[in-house]
Amino acid sequence: MEHIDDDQLATNLRYRFDYVAKFIRWSNDDIAVLNSLEPIVSPLLPVVVDAVYKKLFQFDVTKRFFFKRNEGFEGNLPSSLNDLTLNSEQIQFRKDMLSRYLTRVITTKVWDDSFLQYLSRVGKIHTNNGGSKSINVPYIHVNALLGYVEHILIDAVWGVENVDNKTKKAAILSINKFFWIQNDLFTMHYIGSSSVSNAPKDDTAIPSNTSSFAFNHHLLMTFALVAAIAVVIGYYIGGQK
Ligand code: HEM
Repeated sequence: MEHIDDDQLATNLRYRFDYVAKFIRWSNDDIAVLNSLEPIVSPLLPVVVDAVYKKLFQFDVTKRFFFKRNEGFEGNLPSSLNDLTLNSEQIQFRKDMLSRYLTRVITTKVWDDSFLQYLSRVGKIHTNNGGSKSINVPYIHVNALLGYVEHILIDAVWGVENVDNKTKKAAILSINKFFWIQNDLFTMHYIGSSSVSNAPKDDTAIPSNTSSFAFNHHLLMTFALVAAIAVVIGYYIGGQK
């Protein structure tokens, strides 16, 4: 059994990433697979980004965050939520940032510390600990959007012609793993140290915060389940060749 240090998980981004990466079997091969998707995904980015903002404008609980002034945006804001449209200046600004984010995810060749810090910053900016202090997007919406964006990307890759199933399988597995890594770098900012530090120190210890303890185990079980589903999908796709 390999020892993993709770305190390091809570304080050291590289250590935390390495642990999650090892758990879900993320490797440099996955980075290469994402890089190889650039010619497929880049031309689709305007459509993907438009779909994301259409989705976020579908519900008042998500649209409302774009009515507040976003960090780094200095243009005009409309005077009412109803006047905020998908073509508003701030939304163009947000679409541009999302497009740059997705481009960076698929083109980054070395996941060095500065790239990990960028992924972590993307998580943090949605809480009131980062970016605009008045913007605190509840995690439920982040979770939903992660699922939605992953779905769009997998659908796009699956629909590409002239690519064999083995390559598509690798792409789907890597995209899926990426989203779970990004998800961890969101949840880290939402549930903070309770995401790692309240496990019992020995077999007899009783966790001080039972609900966080349960949530912590729930996350690990979810990781394991996703990995298992990915393997089953992989075998299925492999069998279709
Ligand atoms: C798939 C999940 C999400 C991803 C990948 C994502 C990505 C991003 C990125 C790349 C930025 C800019 C970061 C920077 O400035 O460096 C950002 C900012 C922002 N996002 Fe998201 N986002 C997600 C979910 C959401 C959701 C669900 C909402 C609202 C319902 C939202 C609202 C915002 C807002 C308001 C900002 C600006 C924050 C500020 O200025 O402080 N995001 N997001």
